[in-house]
Amino acid sequence: MCGIFGYLGTKNTATSMILDGLKALEYRGYDSWGVAIKKEDGTLFVQKHIGKIGNARIPSFHSHIGIGHTRWATHGGVTEANAHPHIDCTGKVAIVHNGIVENFEGLKLDLQNKGHRFSSETDSEVIVHLIEEIQKTQSDLTIVMQKLRSKISGMNALIAFFPEDESFYIIKNGSPIVVGSVDDDYFIASDASAILPYTNNVYFLEDNEMLHISQSGISLFDNLGAKKIAKFTKLSYSAKSAEKGEYKHYMIKEILEQPKVLKNIIDTQTHEIEIAADLIKHAYGTYLIGCGTASYACLAGTYLFSKIAKRHINFAIGSEFSYLIDFLKENSLVFALSQSGETIDTIASVKKAIKRKSKLLSLTNSEGSTLYRMSDTNLLLHAGTEKAVASTKAYTAQIVYLYLIAHQLADSLDDGKKHVTQAIHTIKNLIEQKSKIELLAKEIAKHKSIFILGRGVSYAAALESALKIKEVSYIHAEGFAAGELKHGVIALIEKETPVILFNPEDETYEDTLSAAHEVKARGAHVIGVSSKNDKVYDTFIEVKNCADATIIPNVVIAQLLGYYLALAKNLDPDMPRNLAKSVTVK
Ligand code: G6P
Repeated sequence: MCGIFGYLGTKNTATSMILDGLKALEYRGYDSWGVAIKKEDGTLFVQKHIGKIGNARIPSFHSHIGIGHTRWATHGGVTEANAHPHIDCTGKVAIVHNGIVENFEGLKLDLQNKGHRFSSETDSEVIVHLIEEIQKTQSDLTIVMQKLRSKISGMNALIAFFPEDESFYIIKNGSPIVVGSVDDDYFIASDASAILPYTNNVYFLEDNEMLHISQSGISLFDNLGAKKIAKFTKLSYSAKSAEKGEYKHYMIKEILEQPKVLKNIIDTQTHEIEIAADLIKHAYGTYLIGCGTASYACLAGTYLFSKIAKRHINFAIGSEFSYLIDFLKENSLVFALSQSGETIDTIASVKKAIKRKSKLLSLTNSEGSTLYRMSDTNLLLHAGTEKAVASTKAYTAQIVYLYLIAHQLADSLDDGKKHVTQAIHTIKNLIEQKSKIELLAKEIAKHKSIFILGRGVSYAAALESALKIKEVSYIHAEGFAAGELKHGVIALIEKETPVILFNPEDETYEDTLSAAHEVKARGAHVIGVSSKNDKVYDTFIEVKNCADATIIPNVVIAQLLGYYLALAKNLDPDMPRNLAKSVTVK
Protein backbone atom coordinates (compact mmCIF):
# COMPACT_ATOMS: atom_id res chain seq x y z
CA MET A 1 0.00 0.00 0.00
CA CYS A 2 1.76 3.13 -1.33
CA GLY A 3 5.09 2.74 -3.08
CA ILE A 4 8.20 4.57 -1.97
CA PHE A 5 11.33 4.88 -4.08
CA GLY A 6 14.57 6.78 -3.54
CA TYR A 7 17.93 7.00 -5.27
CA LEU A 8 21.20 8.47 -4.02
CA GLY A 9 24.47 7.80 -5.79
CA THR A 10 26.97 8.49 -8.49
CA LYS A 11 24.78 8.41 -11.60
CA ASN A 12 23.14 11.56 -12.93
CA THR A 13 20.00 9.72 -14.04
CA ALA A 14 18.00 9.94 -10.81
CA THR A 15 14.91 11.28 -12.65
CA SER A 16 14.48 8.26 -14.91
CA MET A 17 15.44 5.78 -12.18
CA ILE A 18 12.86 7.24 -9.80
CA LEU A 19 10.16 7.19 -12.47
CA ASP A 20 10.99 3.58 -13.36
CA GLY A 21 10.99 2.68 -9.68
CA LEU A 22 7.53 4.19 -9.21
CA LYS A 23 6.22 2.36 -12.25
CA ALA A 24 7.52 -0.90 -10.78
CA LEU A 25 5.76 -0.10 -7.49
CA GLU A 26 2.56 1.26 -8.97
CA TYR A 27 0.67 -1.95 -8.13
CA ARG A 28 0.90 -0.82 -4.46
CA GLY A 29 -1.32 2.19 -5.09
CA TYR A 30 -2.14 4.25 -8.12
CA ASP A 31 -4.41 7.13 -7.27
CA SER A 32 -1.68 9.78 -7.44
CA TRP A 33 2.10 10.10 -7.57
CA GLY A 34 4.89 12.58 -7.09
CA VAL A 35 8.64 13.17 -6.96
CA ALA A 36 11.14 15.49 -5.23
CA ILE A 37 14.50 15.54 -7.01
CA LYS A 38 17.51 17.78 -6.42
CA LYS A 39 18.70 19.55 -9.58
CA GLU A 40 22.35 20.25 -10.29
CA ASP A 41 21.77 23.95 -9.62
CA GLY A 42 20.84 23.01 -6.05
CA THR A 43 17.09 23.65 -6.34
CA LEU A 44 14.48 21.04 -5.49
CA PHE A 45 12.21 19.92 -8.32
CA VAL A 46 8.80 18.82 -7.03
CA GLN A 47 6.02 17.46 -9.21
CA LYS A 48 2.77 15.72 -8.24
CA HIS A 49 -0.08 14.31 -10.30
CA ILE A 50 -3.42 12.62 -9.82
CA GLY A 51 -3.90 9.24 -11.49
CA LYS A 52 -1.68 6.39 -12.61
CA ILE A 53 1.91 6.93 -13.61
CA GLY A 54 1.41 4.99 -16.84
CA ASN A 55 3.63 6.62 -19.41
CA ALA A 56 4.07 9.86 -17.47
CA ARG A 57 7.15 11.95 -18.18
CA ILE A 58 8.97 14.46 -16.07
CA PRO A 59 11.36 17.04 -17.53
CA SER A 60 14.72 15.46 -18.12
CA PHE A 61 17.58 16.95 -16.09
CA HIS A 62 20.71 15.63 -14.44
CA SER A 63 20.42 14.63 -10.82
CA HIS A 64 21.96 12.08 -8.50
CA ILE A 65 19.48 12.20 -5.61
CA GLY A 66 15.71 12.20 -5.17
CA ILE A 67 12.60 10.44 -3.92
CA GLY A 68 9.21 9.45 -5.31
CA HIS A 69 5.89 8.04 -4.15
CA THR A 70 2.83 6.36 -5.61
CA ARG A 71 -0.21 6.70 -3.36
CA TRP A 72 -3.16 4.65 -2.14
CA ALA A 73 -5.20 7.21 -0.21
CA THR A 74 -5.94 6.64 3.46
CA HIS A 75 -6.26 10.08 5.09
CA GLY A 76 -7.32 12.81 2.69
CA GLY A 77 -8.90 12.41 -0.75
CA VAL A 78 -7.20 11.93 -4.08
CA THR A 79 -5.86 15.42 -4.84
CA GLU A 80 -2.56 16.81 -6.05
CA ALA A 81 -2.06 18.49 -2.68
CA ASN A 82 -2.48 15.19 -0.85
CA ALA A 83 -0.01 13.40 -3.14
CA HIS A 84 3.50 12.90 -1.76
CA PRO A 85 6.26 14.09 -1.38
CA HIS A 86 5.34 16.59 1.33
CA ILE A 87 7.63 19.54 1.90
CA ASP A 88 8.15 21.58 5.08
CA CYS A 89 7.52 25.35 5.29
CA THR A 90 11.17 26.18 4.51
CA GLY A 91 11.51 23.83 1.53
CA LYS A 92 14.47 22.11 3.17
CA VAL A 93 12.95 18.71 3.95
CA ALA A 94 10.85 16.39 1.79
CA ILE A 95 9.24 13.14 2.86
CA VAL A 96 7.52 10.17 1.29
CA HIS A 97 5.53 7.96 3.62
CA ASN A 98 3.74 4.61 3.69
CA GLY A 99 1.50 3.81 6.66
CA ILE A 100 -0.62 5.84 9.02
CA VAL A 101 0.54 8.34 11.64
CA GLU A 102 -2.10 7.42 14.19
CA ASN A 103 -1.62 10.48 16.43
CA PHE A 104 -1.51 12.97 13.57
CA GLU A 105 -4.53 15.04 14.63
CA GLY A 106 -3.02 16.21 17.93
CA LEU A 107 0.38 16.75 16.33
CA LYS A 108 -1.13 18.77 13.49
CA LEU A 109 -3.05 21.06 15.82
CA ASP A 110 0.04 21.67 17.88
CA LEU A 111 2.17 22.40 14.80
CA GLN A 112 -0.47 24.73 13.35
CA ASN A 113 -0.55 26.62 16.64
CA LYS A 114 3.20 27.02 16.28
CA GLY A 115 2.69 28.62 12.85
CA HIS A 116 3.27 25.71 10.45
CA ARG A 117 1.29 25.98 7.21
CA PHE A 118 -0.21 22.69 6.05
CA SER A 119 -1.04 22.25 2.41
CA SER A 120 -2.70 18.82 2.52
CA GLU A 121 -5.28 16.85 4.50
CA THR A 122 -2.93 13.91 4.99
CA ASP A 123 -1.59 12.42 8.19
CA SER A 124 1.81 12.18 6.44
CA GLU A 125 2.39 15.92 6.23
CA VAL A 126 2.78 16.21 10.03
CA ILE A 127 6.04 14.27 9.72
CA VAL A 128 7.76 16.91 7.64
CA HIS A 129 6.60 19.83 9.80
CA LEU A 130 7.58 17.95 12.91
CA ILE A 131 11.10 17.51 11.52
CA GLU A 132 11.19 21.24 10.76
CA GLU A 133 9.99 22.06 14.28
CA ILE A 134 12.54 19.80 16.00
CA GLN A 135 15.29 21.31 13.83
CA LYS A 136 14.63 24.71 15.43
CA THR A 137 16.35 23.51 18.58
CA GLN A 138 18.54 20.69 17.27
CA SER A 139 20.93 20.78 14.31
CA ASP A 140 22.19 17.18 14.45
CA LEU A 141 19.93 15.45 11.94
CA THR A 142 20.37 12.02 13.52
CA ILE A 143 19.07 13.35 16.84
CA VAL A 144 16.28 15.20 15.04
CA MET A 145 15.15 11.96 13.45
CA GLN A 146 15.43 10.02 16.74
CA LYS A 147 13.13 12.58 18.32
CA LEU A 148 10.74 12.33 15.40
CA ARG A 149 10.59 8.56 15.87
CA SER A 150 9.58 8.94 19.48
CA LYS A 151 6.78 11.38 18.64
CA ILE A 152 4.88 9.56 15.88
CA SER A 153 2.84 6.44 16.48
CA GLY A 154 1.44 3.79 14.13
CA MET A 155 2.89 1.51 11.50
CA ASN A 156 5.08 3.59 9.23
CA ALA A 157 7.88 3.51 6.69
CA LEU A 158 9.30 6.75 5.37
CA ILE A 159 12.20 8.47 3.68
CA ALA A 160 13.12 11.94 4.91
CA PHE A 161 15.17 13.70 2.24
CA PHE A 162 17.48 16.57 3.23
CA PRO A 163 18.53 18.12 -0.11
CA GLU A 164 21.15 20.50 1.32
CA ASP A 165 22.81 17.71 3.24
CA GLU A 166 22.28 15.30 0.32
CA SER A 167 21.17 12.56 2.66
CA PHE A 168 18.23 10.33 3.44
CA TYR A 169 16.95 9.08 6.77
CA ILE A 170 14.80 5.99 6.47
CA ILE A 171 12.52 4.91 9.28
CA LYS A 172 10.62 1.66 9.52
CA ASN A 173 7.98 0.44 11.89
CA GLY A 174 5.46 -1.96 10.42
CA SER A 175 5.37 -1.07 6.73
CA PRO A 176 8.08 -2.68 4.60
CA ILE A 177 11.14 -0.92 3.20
CA VAL A 178 14.32 -2.29 1.64
CA VAL A 179 17.65 -0.76 0.63
CA GLY A 180 19.79 -1.95 -2.26
CA SER A 181 23.48 -1.13 -2.51
CA VAL A 182 25.91 -1.50 -5.38
CA ASP A 183 29.27 0.31 -5.45
CA ASP A 184 28.39 3.82 -4.22
CA ASP A 185 24.77 3.73 -5.42
CA TYR A 186 21.83 3.29 -3.04
CA PHE A 187 18.24 2.44 -3.92
CA ILE A 188 15.39 2.50 -1.43
CA ALA A 189 12.02 0.93 -2.17
CA SER A 190 8.89 -0.48 -0.58
CA ASP A 191 9.53 -3.72 -2.41
CA ALA A 192 12.74 -5.36 -3.65
CA SER A 193 11.32 -5.87 -7.15
CA ALA A 194 11.87 -2.14 -7.85
CA ILE A 195 15.54 -2.45 -6.87
CA LEU A 196 16.34 -5.70 -8.70
CA PRO A 197 17.07 -4.04 -12.08
CA TYR A 198 20.10 -2.46 -10.35
CA THR A 199 21.22 -4.93 -7.70
CA ASN A 200 20.22 -8.03 -5.75
CA ASN A 201 22.34 -6.95 -2.78
CA VAL A 202 19.72 -5.76 -0.31
CA TYR A 203 19.00 -5.01 3.32
CA PHE A 204 15.41 -5.28 4.64
CA LEU A 205 14.98 -2.84 7.51
CA GLU A 206 13.53 -4.37 10.67
CA ASP A 207 10.89 -2.65 12.80
CA ASN A 208 12.18 0.31 14.82
CA GLU A 209 15.37 0.64 12.82
CA MET A 210 16.59 3.85 11.23
CA LEU A 211 19.05 4.07 8.36
CA HIS A 212 21.05 7.12 7.33
CA ILE A 213 22.39 7.22 3.76
CA SER A 214 24.72 9.81 2.30
CA GLN A 215 27.53 9.84 -0.26
CA SER A 216 29.89 8.75 2.50
CA GLY A 217 27.96 5.55 3.20
CA ILE A 218 25.26 4.13 5.44
CA SER A 219 24.68 4.01 9.20
CA LEU A 220 22.07 1.83 10.81
CA PHE A 221 20.56 2.65 14.23
CA ASP A 222 18.44 0.51 16.54
CA ASN A 223 15.37 1.72 18.43
CA LEU A 224 17.53 3.35 21.12
CA GLY A 225 19.77 5.10 18.60
CA ALA A 226 22.76 2.76 19.01
CA LYS A 227 24.66 1.95 15.82
CA LYS A 228 24.43 -1.57 14.42
CA ILE A 229 25.62 -3.44 11.34
CA ALA A 230 23.31 -3.73 8.33
CA LYS A 231 23.75 -7.29 7.10
CA PHE A 232 23.01 -7.26 3.38
CA THR A 233 21.76 -10.41 1.66
CA LYS A 234 21.78 -11.46 -1.98
CA LEU A 235 18.32 -12.20 -3.37
CA SER A 236 18.07 -15.21 -5.64
CA TYR A 237 15.34 -13.91 -7.95
CA SER A 238 15.77 -11.55 -10.88
CA ALA A 239 13.90 -8.56 -12.30
CA LYS A 240 13.17 -10.40 -15.52
CA SER A 241 10.06 -12.28 -14.40
CA ALA A 242 8.51 -8.93 -13.43
CA GLU A 243 8.39 -7.67 -17.03
CA LYS A 244 5.14 -7.57 -19.01
CA GLY A 245 6.89 -8.52 -22.25
CA GLU A 246 4.62 -9.08 -25.23
CA TYR A 247 1.45 -9.28 -23.13
CA LYS A 248 -1.22 -6.57 -23.03
CA HIS A 249 -1.72 -6.96 -19.29
CA TYR A 250 0.10 -8.55 -16.38
CA MET A 251 -3.07 -10.42 -15.45
CA ILE A 252 -3.19 -12.45 -18.66
CA LYS A 253 0.59 -12.98 -18.58
CA GLU A 254 0.31 -14.37 -15.06
CA ILE A 255 -2.71 -16.57 -15.91
CA LEU A 256 -0.82 -18.08 -18.84
CA GLU A 257 2.29 -18.68 -16.73
CA GLN A 258 0.44 -21.07 -14.43
CA PRO A 259 1.33 -24.40 -16.08
CA LYS A 260 5.04 -23.56 -15.73
CA VAL A 261 4.71 -22.29 -12.15
CA LEU A 262 2.77 -25.37 -11.00
CA LYS A 263 5.13 -27.79 -12.72
CA ASN A 264 8.04 -26.13 -10.96
CA ILE A 265 6.47 -26.94 -7.57
CA ILE A 266 6.09 -30.60 -8.50
CA ASP A 267 9.66 -30.75 -9.77
CA THR A 268 11.55 -28.79 -7.13
CA GLN A 269 9.62 -28.51 -3.87
CA THR A 270 9.40 -32.09 -2.60
CA HIS A 271 11.79 -31.50 0.27
CA GLU A 272 9.91 -28.37 1.42
CA ILE A 273 6.59 -30.23 1.16
CA GLU A 274 7.98 -32.98 3.38
CA ILE A 275 9.14 -30.40 5.94
CA ALA A 276 5.70 -28.75 6.04
CA ALA A 277 3.91 -32.10 6.36
CA ASP A 278 6.19 -33.08 9.20
CA LEU A 279 5.50 -29.83 11.08
CA ILE A 280 1.75 -30.33 10.69
CA LYS A 281 2.03 -33.96 11.81
CA HIS A 282 3.72 -33.01 15.06
CA ALA A 283 1.78 -29.83 15.84
CA TYR A 284 -0.93 -29.56 18.47
CA GLY A 285 -3.37 -28.11 15.96
CA THR A 286 -2.59 -26.22 12.75
CA TYR A 287 -4.24 -22.94 11.82
CA LEU A 288 -4.25 -21.78 8.20
CA ILE A 289 -4.52 -18.02 7.86
CA GLY A 290 -4.46 -15.51 5.03
CA CYS A 291 -6.32 -12.54 3.54
CA GLY A 292 -8.22 -12.09 0.28
CA THR A 293 -7.28 -14.70 -2.28
CA ALA A 294 -4.87 -16.35 0.15
CA SER A 295 -7.77 -16.83 2.58
CA TYR A 296 -9.70 -18.75 -0.06
CA ALA A 297 -6.65 -20.93 -0.68
CA CYS A 298 -6.61 -21.60 3.08
CA LEU A 299 -10.29 -22.51 3.06
CA ALA A 300 -9.69 -24.91 0.17
CA GLY A 301 -6.82 -26.31 2.25
CA THR A 302 -9.17 -27.27 5.10
CA TYR A 303 -11.25 -29.37 2.69
CA LEU A 304 -8.15 -30.94 1.10
CA PHE A 305 -6.54 -31.82 4.44
CA SER A 306 -9.80 -33.31 5.69
CA LYS A 307 -10.47 -35.40 2.62
CA ILE A 308 -6.98 -36.46 1.63
CA ALA A 309 -5.02 -36.45 4.91
CA LYS A 310 -7.98 -37.07 7.29
CA ARG A 311 -6.87 -34.10 9.36
CA HIS A 312 -8.83 -31.23 10.80
CA ILE A 313 -6.88 -28.08 10.01
CA ASN A 314 -8.44 -24.87 11.26
CA PHE A 315 -8.84 -21.82 9.10
CA ALA A 316 -9.28 -18.13 9.84
CA ILE A 317 -9.21 -14.95 7.81
CA GLY A 318 -5.97 -13.09 8.56
CA SER A 319 -7.72 -10.01 9.93
CA GLU A 320 -9.98 -12.13 12.19
CA PHE A 321 -7.37 -14.51 13.56
CA SER A 322 -6.31 -11.96 16.19
CA TYR A 323 -9.66 -12.53 17.90
CA LEU A 324 -9.46 -16.31 17.75
CA ILE A 325 -6.11 -17.06 19.29
CA ASP A 326 -6.75 -17.36 22.99
CA PHE A 327 -6.48 -21.13 22.77
CA LEU A 328 -3.12 -21.18 20.96
CA LYS A 329 -0.38 -23.11 22.68
CA GLU A 330 3.39 -23.38 22.37
CA ASN A 331 3.07 -26.41 20.15
CA SER A 332 0.32 -24.95 17.96
CA LEU A 333 1.34 -24.27 14.36
CA VAL A 334 0.20 -21.17 12.50
CA PHE A 335 0.49 -21.70 8.75
CA ALA A 336 0.28 -18.26 7.14
CA LEU A 337 -0.25 -17.84 3.40
CA SER A 338 0.51 -14.55 1.68
CA GLN A 339 1.65 -13.81 -1.84
CA SER A 340 3.43 -10.62 -0.81
CA GLY A 341 4.38 -11.63 2.72
CA GLU A 342 3.51 -8.06 3.70
CA THR A 343 -0.24 -8.07 4.38
CA ILE A 344 -0.58 -6.19 7.62
CA ASP A 345 -3.73 -8.00 8.82
CA THR A 346 -2.02 -11.37 8.50
CA ILE A 347 1.18 -10.09 10.09
CA ALA A 348 -0.60 -8.45 13.03
CA SER A 349 -2.38 -11.74 13.83
CA VAL A 350 0.80 -13.73 13.46
CA LYS A 351 2.60 -11.41 15.88
CA LYS A 352 -0.03 -12.15 18.51
CA ALA A 353 0.34 -15.89 17.91
CA ILE A 354 4.12 -15.56 18.29
CA LYS A 355 3.59 -13.83 21.62
CA ARG A 356 1.80 -16.99 22.69
CA LYS A 357 4.92 -18.86 21.55
CA SER A 358 3.16 -20.73 18.74
CA LYS A 359 5.30 -21.79 15.80
CA LEU A 360 5.03 -19.99 12.47
CA LEU A 361 5.20 -21.67 9.08
CA SER A 362 4.76 -19.32 6.12
CA LEU A 363 4.18 -19.78 2.42
CA THR A 364 4.91 -16.60 0.49
CA ASN A 365 6.01 -15.57 -2.96
CA SER A 366 8.41 -12.99 -1.65
CA GLU A 367 11.85 -13.93 -0.39
CA GLY A 368 12.93 -11.56 2.38
CA SER A 369 9.40 -10.22 3.02
CA THR A 370 8.27 -9.45 6.57
CA LEU A 371 6.37 -12.72 6.96
CA TYR A 372 9.24 -14.66 5.43
CA ARG A 373 11.67 -13.16 7.91
CA MET A 374 9.54 -13.64 11.00
CA SER A 375 8.74 -17.32 10.33
CA ASP A 376 10.30 -20.32 12.04
CA THR A 377 10.03 -22.10 8.70
CA ASN A 378 9.54 -20.24 5.44
CA LEU A 379 8.45 -21.79 2.18
CA LEU A 380 8.44 -20.02 -1.18
CA LEU A 381 5.96 -20.43 -4.02
CA HIS A 382 8.65 -19.60 -6.63
CA ALA A 383 5.85 -18.26 -8.83
CA GLY A 384 7.86 -15.28 -10.08
CA THR A 385 6.82 -11.71 -9.34
CA GLU A 386 3.05 -11.27 -9.46
CA LYS A 387 2.17 -7.75 -10.56
CA ALA A 388 -1.54 -7.75 -11.43
CA VAL A 389 -3.56 -6.73 -8.39
CA ALA A 390 -5.85 -9.74 -8.78
CA SER A 391 -3.83 -12.75 -7.68
CA THR A 392 -3.85 -15.69 -10.10
CA LYS A 393 -0.66 -17.74 -10.30
CA ALA A 394 0.10 -17.28 -6.60
CA TYR A 395 -3.35 -18.72 -5.76
CA THR A 396 -2.99 -21.87 -7.86
CA ALA A 397 0.58 -22.29 -6.58
CA GLN A 398 -0.75 -22.11 -2.99
CA ILE A 399 -3.40 -24.72 -3.81
CA VAL A 400 -0.80 -27.05 -5.33
CA TYR A 401 1.43 -26.66 -2.29
CA LEU A 402 -1.43 -27.44 0.12
CA TYR A 403 -2.64 -30.30 -2.06
CA LEU A 404 0.78 -31.92 -2.13
CA ILE A 405 1.33 -31.43 1.62
CA ALA A 406 -2.03 -33.16 2.23
CA HIS A 407 -0.92 -36.04 0.01
CA GLN A 408 2.45 -36.21 1.73
CA LEU A 409 0.62 -36.56 5.06
CA ALA A 410 -1.45 -39.37 3.54
CA ASP A 411 1.69 -41.04 2.18
CA SER A 412 0.46 -40.61 -1.37
CA LEU A 413 2.62 -37.80 -2.73
CA ASP A 414 3.04 -39.52 -6.09
CA ASP A 415 -0.74 -39.63 -6.55
CA GLY A 416 -0.90 -35.94 -5.65
CA LYS A 417 1.75 -35.11 -8.24
CA LYS A 418 -0.10 -37.18 -10.84
CA HIS A 419 -3.33 -35.24 -10.26
CA VAL A 420 -1.55 -31.89 -10.41
CA THR A 421 0.09 -32.94 -13.68
CA GLN A 422 -3.39 -33.75 -15.04
CA ALA A 423 -4.59 -30.35 -13.80
CA ILE A 424 -1.71 -28.67 -15.63
CA HIS A 425 -2.70 -30.40 -18.90
CA THR A 426 -6.29 -29.34 -18.37
CA ILE A 427 -5.22 -25.73 -17.80
CA LYS A 428 -3.23 -25.85 -21.05
CA ASN A 429 -6.36 -27.04 -22.91
CA LEU A 430 -8.43 -24.28 -21.37
CA ILE A 431 -5.84 -21.70 -22.33
CA GLU A 432 -5.90 -22.97 -25.93
CA GLN A 433 -9.65 -22.47 -25.96
CA LYS A 434 -9.68 -19.18 -24.13
CA SER A 435 -11.55 -17.48 -26.99
CA LYS A 436 -14.65 -19.44 -25.91
CA ILE A 437 -14.42 -17.89 -22.44
CA GLU A 438 -13.91 -14.50 -24.07
CA LEU A 439 -17.18 -14.99 -25.99
CA LEU A 440 -19.01 -16.01 -22.83
CA ALA A 441 -17.66 -12.90 -21.10
CA LYS A 442 -19.04 -10.69 -23.88
CA GLU A 443 -22.41 -12.40 -23.46
CA ILE A 444 -22.68 -11.98 -19.68
CA ALA A 445 -20.87 -8.63 -19.25
CA LYS A 446 -24.17 -6.73 -19.29
CA HIS A 447 -25.45 -8.48 -16.15
CA LYS A 448 -25.38 -6.82 -12.76
CA SER A 449 -24.84 -10.06 -10.82
CA ILE A 450 -23.19 -13.42 -11.34
CA PHE A 451 -23.50 -16.31 -8.90
CA ILE A 452 -21.06 -19.16 -8.52
CA LEU A 453 -22.00 -22.38 -6.76
CA GLY A 454 -20.09 -25.41 -5.57
CA ARG A 455 -19.90 -27.89 -2.72
CA GLY A 456 -16.91 -29.09 -0.76
CA VAL A 457 -13.63 -27.79 -2.11
CA SER A 458 -15.60 -26.36 -5.06
CA TYR A 459 -17.30 -24.04 -2.57
CA ALA A 460 -13.88 -22.58 -1.73
CA ALA A 461 -13.25 -22.34 -5.50
CA ALA A 462 -16.58 -20.52 -5.91
CA LEU A 463 -15.57 -17.89 -3.35
CA GLU A 464 -12.20 -17.27 -5.02
CA SER A 465 -13.82 -17.18 -8.46
CA ALA A 466 -16.36 -14.60 -7.33
CA LEU A 467 -13.59 -12.47 -5.86
CA LYS A 468 -11.67 -12.59 -9.17
CA ILE A 469 -14.71 -11.43 -11.13
CA LYS A 470 -15.60 -8.69 -8.62
CA GLU A 471 -12.07 -7.32 -8.37
CA VAL A 472 -11.47 -6.72 -12.04
CA SER A 473 -14.90 -6.37 -13.68
CA TYR A 474 -16.85 -4.63 -10.85
CA ILE A 475 -19.74 -7.00 -11.52
CA HIS A 476 -21.41 -8.16 -8.34
CA ALA A 477 -20.30 -11.78 -8.12
CA GLU A 478 -21.09 -14.07 -5.18
CA GLY A 479 -19.85 -17.52 -4.41
CA PHE A 480 -22.19 -19.76 -2.44
CA ALA A 481 -22.21 -23.25 -1.06
CA ALA A 482 -24.63 -24.91 -3.46
CA GLY A 483 -26.47 -26.46 -0.51
CA GLU A 484 -27.21 -23.03 0.92
CA LEU A 485 -29.14 -22.05 -2.17
CA LYS A 486 -32.51 -22.99 -0.75
CA HIS A 487 -31.80 -21.10 2.47
CA GLY A 488 -32.22 -17.65 1.02
CA VAL A 489 -29.81 -17.23 -1.87
CA ILE A 490 -32.29 -18.45 -4.44
CA ALA A 491 -34.32 -15.25 -3.88
CA LEU A 492 -31.61 -13.46 -5.87
CA ILE A 493 -32.07 -15.50 -9.04
CA GLU A 494 -33.88 -13.70 -11.85
CA LYS A 495 -34.50 -14.50 -15.49
CA GLU A 496 -31.16 -14.85 -17.34
CA THR A 497 -29.02 -14.37 -14.19
CA PRO A 498 -25.70 -16.11 -14.97
CA VAL A 499 -25.04 -18.94 -12.50
CA ILE A 500 -21.75 -20.80 -12.77
CA LEU A 501 -21.74 -24.28 -11.29
CA PHE A 502 -18.53 -26.08 -10.39
CA ASN A 503 -19.59 -29.66 -10.67
CA PRO A 504 -16.64 -32.08 -10.72
CA GLU A 505 -17.47 -35.78 -10.73
CA ASP A 506 -16.82 -36.28 -7.05
CA GLU A 507 -19.01 -36.86 -3.99
CA THR A 508 -20.73 -33.50 -4.58
CA TYR A 509 -21.83 -34.21 -8.17
CA GLU A 510 -25.48 -35.24 -7.80
CA ASP A 511 -26.34 -32.65 -5.15
CA THR A 512 -24.74 -29.85 -7.15
CA LEU A 513 -26.72 -30.98 -10.19
CA SER A 514 -29.92 -30.57 -8.14
CA ALA A 515 -28.90 -26.97 -7.48
CA ALA A 516 -28.56 -26.51 -11.26
CA HIS A 517 -32.15 -27.66 -11.74
CA GLU A 518 -33.37 -25.39 -8.95
CA VAL A 519 -31.84 -22.23 -10.45
CA LYS A 520 -32.80 -23.27 -13.98
CA ALA A 521 -36.43 -23.53 -12.86
CA ARG A 522 -36.19 -19.86 -11.81
CA GLY A 523 -34.90 -18.77 -15.23
CA ALA A 524 -31.13 -18.64 -14.57
CA HIS A 525 -28.58 -19.02 -17.35
CA VAL A 526 -26.75 -22.09 -16.04
CA ILE A 527 -23.07 -22.41 -16.91
CA GLY A 528 -21.90 -25.90 -15.99
CA VAL A 529 -18.21 -26.54 -15.38
CA SER A 530 -17.72 -30.27 -15.25
CA SER A 531 -16.22 -33.34 -16.93
CA LYS A 532 -19.76 -34.49 -17.82
CA ASN A 533 -22.29 -32.47 -19.81
CA ASP A 534 -25.94 -32.39 -18.77
CA LYS A 535 -28.99 -30.99 -20.49
CA VAL A 536 -29.63 -28.68 -17.55
CA TYR A 537 -26.63 -26.56 -18.55
CA ASP A 538 -27.28 -23.69 -20.96
CA THR A 539 -23.53 -23.36 -21.45
CA PHE A 540 -21.07 -26.17 -20.80
CA ILE A 541 -17.36 -25.80 -20.13
CA GLU A 542 -15.59 -29.13 -20.08
CA VAL A 543 -12.96 -29.67 -17.41
CA LYS A 544 -11.43 -33.14 -17.22
CA ASN A 545 -11.50 -34.79 -13.82
CA CYS A 546 -8.17 -34.45 -11.98
CA ALA A 547 -9.39 -35.78 -8.61
CA ASP A 548 -9.45 -32.96 -6.03
CA ALA A 549 -6.93 -31.00 -8.09
CA THR A 550 -9.85 -30.15 -10.41
CA ILE A 551 -10.27 -27.03 -8.28
CA ILE A 552 -7.20 -25.64 -10.08
CA PRO A 553 -8.51 -25.57 -13.68
CA ASN A 554 -11.95 -24.57 -12.37
CA VAL A 555 -10.54 -21.40 -10.84
CA VAL A 556 -8.47 -20.73 -13.98
CA ILE A 557 -11.79 -20.50 -15.87
CA ALA A 558 -12.94 -17.80 -13.46
CA GLN A 559 -9.60 -15.98 -13.80
CA LEU A 560 -9.99 -15.91 -17.59
CA LEU A 561 -13.65 -14.94 -17.29
CA GLY A 562 -12.78 -12.08 -14.91
CA TYR A 563 -10.06 -10.88 -17.27
CA TYR A 564 -12.29 -10.92 -20.36
CA LEU A 565 -15.21 -9.35 -18.46
CA ALA A 566 -12.89 -6.46 -17.57
CA LEU A 567 -11.87 -6.11 -21.22
CA ALA A 568 -15.51 -6.31 -22.36
CA LYS A 569 -16.25 -3.41 -19.99
CA ASN A 570 -13.19 -1.48 -21.12
CA LEU A 571 -11.54 -1.66 -17.71
CA ASP A 572 -7.87 -2.02 -16.79
CA PRO A 573 -7.67 -5.51 -15.20
CA ASP A 574 -4.20 -4.85 -13.79
CA MET A 575 -5.18 -1.87 -11.66
CA PRO A 576 -8.77 -2.11 -10.50
CA ARG A 577 -10.29 0.91 -8.78
CA ASN A 578 -9.78 1.35 -5.03
CA LEU A 579 -7.50 -1.69 -4.68
CA ALA A 580 -3.80 -2.18 -4.09
CA LYS A 581 -1.86 -5.40 -4.40
CA SER A 582 -0.09 -5.19 -1.11
CA VAL A 583 -2.19 -4.04 1.82
CA THR A 584 0.21 -2.69 4.42
CA VAL A 585 -2.22 -0.53 6.41
CA LYS A 586 -5.09 -1.66 8.63
C1 G6P B 1 -4.96 -7.50 -1.36
C2 G6P B 1 -4.94 -7.88 -2.83
C3 G6P B 1 -5.48 -9.29 -3.00
C4 G6P B 1 -4.71 -10.26 -2.12
C5 G6P B 1 -4.74 -9.84 -0.64
C6 G6P B 1 -3.80 -10.67 0.21
O1 G6P B 1 -6.26 -7.33 -0.94
O2 G6P B 1 -5.70 -6.96 -3.59
O3 G6P B 1 -5.34 -9.67 -4.36
O4 G6P B 1 -5.25 -11.53 -2.23
O5 G6P B 1 -4.30 -8.48 -0.55
O6 G6P B 1 -2.49 -10.48 -0.24
P1 G6P B 1 -1.28 -11.43 0.13
O7 G6P B 1 -0.09 -10.74 -0.46
O8 G6P B 1 -1.23 -11.51 1.61
O9 G6P B 1 -1.55 -12.75 -0.49
